[in-house]
Amino acid sequence: MKFIKVENYEKLSRIAASIIASQVTVKPCSVLGLATGSSPLGAYARLAQMCSDGDVDFSEVISVNLDEYVGLDGTNDQSYRYFMDTNLFSKINIKPENTSVPNGCAKDLKAECERYDALIESLGGIDLQLLGIGLDGHIGFNEPDSVFTKETHEVVLDESTIEANARFFASIDDVPKTAVTMGMGAIMKARKVLLIANGKGKRDIVEKAFFGPITPAVPASILQLHPDLTVIYSEN
Ligand code: GLP
Repeated sequence: MKFIKVENYEKLSRIAASIIASQVTVKPCSVLGLATGSSPLGAYARLAQMCSDGDVDFSEVISVNLDEYVGLDGTNDQSYRYFMDTNLFSKINIKPENTSVPNGCAKDLKAECERYDALIESLGGIDLQLLGIGLDGHIGFNEPDSVFTKETHEVVLDESTIEANARFFASIDDVPKTAVTMGMGAIMKARKVLLIANGKGKRDIVEKAFFGPITPAVPASILQLHPDLTVIYSEN
């Protein structure tokens, strides 16, 4: 594991963007596993700038997102599809048809989860997986549990996750109670993993996840076993 501590969010975002841009430059048809949340916003803005400056080309990139709320479709401004379209896909030259986010409105969610895993498999897996980390140690929406779940699956969100994510919704009652998330199998099989975390509030969970015991009670701790993991942390 490479653990990089930086002085501020600006620097974290610049380093993360340059790692992603290097991946795409070295392998133009990279499969990128992408994340939502506030942590990647700076890196996404930087990538958009690099793309408009002609310094990185996403025209052959394929993306697969980690997760989606159940019941929110892509037109809902709180859905992760909407987040990705607004904050990244509309600002870079990726082909819309090359972007995937799990469908949280699928009638048959089990079939949707199987379709998503089959899609990732058919792409040959993920080249670079970008992750944030939840305050309870979740990655994607893999919440603390007694086991690590390998496949894409439906999850019941923890109360603490609902509270943390309520800041994006009009009221806490509007936060969906369930979500679909990529499982640990596809994340751990990604050839590279880049996790970004910022703020003093994340210090304890970062410490537990990367310097504590590996346990499904802290889902991100499984990443300690990944052969090519980079963690970038900024306290400010
Ligand atoms: C959500 C997402 C995660 C993300 C986490 C942290 O729960 N499902 O993928 O890592 O939030 O978000 P933030 O970066 O806003 O702290």
